[in-house]
Amino acid sequence: MAQPPQPSPESTPLLSMTGIVKQFPGVRALDGVDFQVRRGEIHSLMGQNGAGKSTLLKVLTGVYTRDAGQMLLDGRVISPRSPLEAQGEGISTVYQEVNLIPDLSVAENIVLGRQTQRFGFIDWRAARRQADAALARLDLQLDVSASLNSYSIAIQQMVAIARALDEECSLLVLDEPTSSLDQQEVARLFGVLRRLRDDGLGIVFVTHFLDQVYQISDTITVLRNGRLVGEWPAAEFSRIELIARMLGRDPASLTEAEAGAAPPSPVAAAEAARLVAHQLGRRGQLQPVDVEVGAGEVLGLGGLLGSGRTELARLLFGLDRADSGRVELAGRAVRRGQPRSAIAAGMGYSSEDRKVEGIIPELSVRENLILALASKRGLWRRLGRAAQEALADRYIQALGIATPDAEKRISELSGGNQQKVLLARWLAAEPSLLILDEPTRGIDVGAKAEIMALVADLKARGMSVVFISSELEEVVRSSDRIMVLCDRAALGELRGESKTEQAMLARIASAHQEVSGG
Ligand SMILES: Nc1ncnc2c1ncn2[C@@H]1O[C@H](COP(=O)(O)OP(=O)(O)OP(=O)(O)O)[C@@H](O)[C@H]1O
Ligand SMILES: [Mg+2]
Repeated sequence: MAQPPQPSPESTPLLSMTGIVKQFPGVRALDGVDFQVRRGEIHSLMGQNGAGKSTLLKVLTGVYTRDAGQMLLDGRVISPRSPLEAQGEGISTVYQEVNLIPDLSVAENIVLGRQTQRFGFIDWRAARRQADAALARLDLQLDVSASLNSYSIAIQQMVAIARALDEECSLLVLDEPTSSLDQQEVARLFGVLRRLRDDGLGIVFVTHFLDQVYQISDTITVLRNGRLVGEWPAAEFSRIELIARMLGRDPASLTEAEAGAAPPSPVAAAEAARLVAHQLGRRGQLQPVDVEVGAGEVLGLGGLLGSGRTELARLLFGLDRADSGRVELAGRAVRRGQPRSAIAAGMGYSSEDRKVEGIIPELSVRENLILALASKRGLWRRLGRAAQEALADRYIQALGIATPDAEKRISELSGGNQQKVLLARWLAAEPSLLILDEPTRGIDVGAKAEIMALVADLKARGMSVVFISSELEEVVRSSDRIMVLCDRAALGELRGESKTEQAMLARIASAHQEVSGG
């Protein structure tokens, strides 16, 4: 076998991808990309939505075949044709979209496809032990015989990671693994990643949370429009320079707004409350709360994951049926447990979970985008094709959705761009009150700034907004008032000068003390 010219063991990277090209109809997703990962390194792959991060990782893990280029793992040429083959080579992956089967048990999801068999039958005792061991590596104890969908998305994500972490793995690939985890869970995951790194694994990490990038990475590689921009040691690469490289801009010209530091334009119209919810609650989900939102006002829901933010949103919109209280929008009663009634009254809800409640993968961008409007107009006032196209084009433009045209299947868009279509769906319906549940999850910094600007704009035009984000700083920045939630109950409100991240955290912390301290 021909050896590469005199590689000393330390200088041979664990992974070396060179000249990778991947062409999709109408899009060159990767255009000659080089990417290297060393042993014992956590390497973040950064870039705007549609830059090609997921595609590069899918080429690596055998989901897509490349059109050109070479891949070496440990100096050996590899060409996996499926994730299973990649796993056989020692590459384990957690994809951006959780790919588990919600109806199966946790144990089944972890061992699926590689069960221990005895006499041709699956040995469930062994499988459960295997699942327990995999979860223990993540410091996680679950009832592995419970069905996966009985756990939160965050836990499901951890299960996906446990599944990927198989013993022979030398390279672990994580595409946005933290987008549904709360701070504590992220800390736990990072602890595990550092341990694996110290064991000599190479780890590739993709996220849009810049804080996390700087917490965990040794090295940062930036892609832009399917091309390599460069590779930097994280310690020598400033935040502002990273953002500039991602946007293809000169760091000196970057404004604070794009770096995510500017306050929104403060327009607060004090008029009679548009949304009034009185003692809205549901046993086991949310203790009864009162909510009021005025026209042109943004109410933030602050709290940690599991605090009841999403539960409140779902009760307001009628996705779950309240067992107490009532909701009125602009004087019109919204019927309990009936989203259709909420939509008719002028409410919109952009959900946090785009895979389950959000996108319809088989439909085009245009079809996905007009859904809410179509349902608001009803069967008899259908929107003509030309009007649909005009609408789709307008929002593709306004939100900078990266797609060659509106007819592309939404499942072929990058994750962040799917999120933007979901948001456009509700904007197009022009609701008088829009609930935004994690609207910036999985969205790059540039688009985040665009979306936050859009929220400020909607507000200025009189739309009321209920805003949920696990990035507390984002909630503080965009909201006029913040309702703090903890353990599925409202803790009170922050406004004016008291509306700060510290105040929010202090509230939550003191509530926890009361609970545990007695
Ligand atoms: N299966 C596919 N068919 C056609 N085009 C695709 C497919 N997958 C990705 N693309 C296109 O390739 C480009 C790169 O997408 P990719 O998913 O790699 O982006 P990304 O960097 O992961 O973005 P994000 O941060 O939004 O996840 C995009 O223009 C996308 O629309
Ligand atoms: Mg992606």
